Amino acid sequence: METLEGMSRTHHCGKISKDDTGKEVVVCGWVSRRRDHGGLIFVDLRDRSGLVQTVFAEDKMGEQAFPKAESLRSEYVIAVRGRVSLRSAETINPHMPTGEVEIYCEELRILNTAQTPPFYIQDNIDVDETLRLKYRYLDLRRPEMQKNIILRHRVTKIMRDYFDRNGFLEIETPMLTKSTPEGARDFLVPSRLNPGKFYALPQSPQIFKQILMLAGYEKYFQIVRCFRDEDLRADRQPEFTQLDIEMSFIDQEYILNTMENMVIELFDKAIASKVTGPFLRMTWQDAMDRFGSDKPDLRFGMELMDISEYVRGSEFKVFESVLKNGGQVKVINVEGYANIPRRELDGLVEYVKNYGAKGLAWIQYTDSEIKSPFKKFYSEETFNKIKEATGAKTGDLLLVVADKPLVVAQALGELRLEMGRRRNLIDPDKLSFLWVVNFPMFEYEEEEKRWKAMHHPFTAPCDEDVQYLMSDPGRVKAKAYDMVLNGTEIGGGSLRIYNSDLQEKVFEAIGLTPEQARAKFGFMLDAFKYGTPPHGGIAFGLDRLVMIMAKRKSIRDVIAFPKTQSASCLMTQAPSDVDNKQLRDLSIKTTVAKKHKED
Ligand code: AMO
Ligand code: AMP
Repeated sequence: METLEGMSRTHHCGKISKDDTGKEVVVCGWVSRRRDHGGLIFVDLRDRSGLVQTVFAEDKMGEQAFPKAESLRSEYVIAVRGRVSLRSAETINPHMPTGEVEIYCEELRILNTAQTPPFYIQDNIDVDETLRLKYRYLDLRRPEMQKNIILRHRVTKIMRDYFDRNGFLEIETPMLTKSTPEGARDFLVPSRLNPGKFYALPQSPQIFKQILMLAGYEKYFQIVRCFRDEDLRADRQPEFTQLDIEMSFIDQEYILNTMENMVIELFDKAIASKVTGPFLRMTWQDAMDRFGSDKPDLRFGMELMDISEYVRGSEFKVFESVLKNGGQVKVINVEGYANIPRRELDGLVEYVKNYGAKGLAWIQYTDSEIKSPFKKFYSEETFNKIKEATGAKTGDLLLVVADKPLVVAQALGELRLEMGRRRNLIDPDKLSFLWVVNFPMFEYEEEEKRWKAMHHPFTAPCDEDVQYLMSDPGRVKAKAYDMVLNGTEIGGGSLRIYNSDLQEKVFEAIGLTPEQARAKFGFMLDAFKYGTPPHGGIAFGLDRLVMIMAKRKSIRDVIAFPKTQSASCLMTQAPSDVDNKQLRDLSIKTTVAKKHKED
């Protein structure tokens, strides 16, 4: 192995251009592709900036040095001193930014060898993700991954600049802390010095950022890791990053504008995408009624429509029993798909069942007839009225779900997305931002038979609804808002309660006794008695935002070292066993039989 001693890098591979023709340069990097033409070897050399072609010619390097070039293999780490020359017209590679030039090697140093990698270090590889995650360091060498990670850096830099310019301070909050109620399970960390006691890793800095407001910092931001032990999906990781914001002496309008302007600047500066404001605002109720979702994807239509009035009062038991029990019958119109194959319809029935619906019905307005499983229960006139009311045309397919409003929303909302994908209605280049506002304060937990805060219990209820906190929690709306982009919730926040009496009332409404509230949040309730300014904030999911900007389907592609669906790291094998001494130090005994022997 050789060193770089006396040979300093002058250029980055991807930056060499025809302006450098004739110059002597030193480039370093990894051997990406190697073609051996006998006395002439071509090597695409790769560093973070890109690729450049280097040429090793036996007649130029001499018989002594040439065998070294012959020994090169994929991913060897080398340094090349040589002269930049223009390629002849027929050898120009238009697909490569440096495709007009090549470097004729005069000195080669092999800085390190490499084993053959388990997959090609290039874009668009067809490799199982588990292999990519096991060899993440190789995966991260691939240009498309480097692009994502570099974009992420750009994004946080632009955010920091924006908030700094607007008077925000970045302040760190603790990682070893107490549980914050964001609705997921906590990751716990045992305390050696306090046997039997545990810290919780923060689900968000929520309590600390509010305390910072009462401590007088007025405008806070932090790009911060959060931890939530929940079931994972493509857009959820057990540790993820938030852009976290809190401000004092502001109203909701101020927060929404500040964030909207940040997003517009971010998309412009990071990916040269012109987003225009003001963003559409939609109440939670409208979003649920029209799209069956609190994070509607507005890149296509296919809105939910209520046909309860047209089907009420018939012999069709399915609809009658739903309507008698306060339910509804709603449809979506899949335009031009009346002739959907029967097999696909059967599949859709199974699809909606995954989202809680008991069944699915349909009306097919085909050229020759109307087809529907409930055809015999209604007159042709009724089917025509439904057609008119929903704006359906001959050739269209209505998909029908009857159930309680939340079940209908969930099932038809998901079906709408699925049909949007299947019918290719979603333009992948479109960016559709909106604010969802006026969220309900509480949602009912069927399993635990109690109300729980929909956002978190520090969220302020709307003034006119405070009177219903105890008597009718379901009707209380909150001063809460989410930013939604292309059907993904990228941020959520609220104005906060800043009065300890109201805070105690909300704790009571979610079933916390005064003693429980004290044990969990006593320090906060006490702090709030020392002059708390009105305040509010929001947190953005940084990973989700970068994922959409990078046009990826999973946040794992924009996180350097992500975890799998089962929350493990395939590269380090975390989580892993620990030895008994460590457990003893922490006063911990596990109930799981251990494989390894006593130390
Ligand atoms: P919330 O819980 O809505 O609000 O989280 C804010 C944003 O964080 C992102 N997010 C996640 N991203 C990846 N993986 C996860 N497991 C995950 N969970 C959440 C989402 C979400 O919109 N403290 C409040 C904010 C506030 O009130 O100011 C909070 O954490 O994009
Ligand atoms: P059943 O009486 O359960 O066999 O249902 C008769 C038809 O009603 C089925 O073929 C479905 O098309 C439809 N159906 C059943 N449940 C629902 C539901 N919850 N919403 C809409 N249609 C339904």
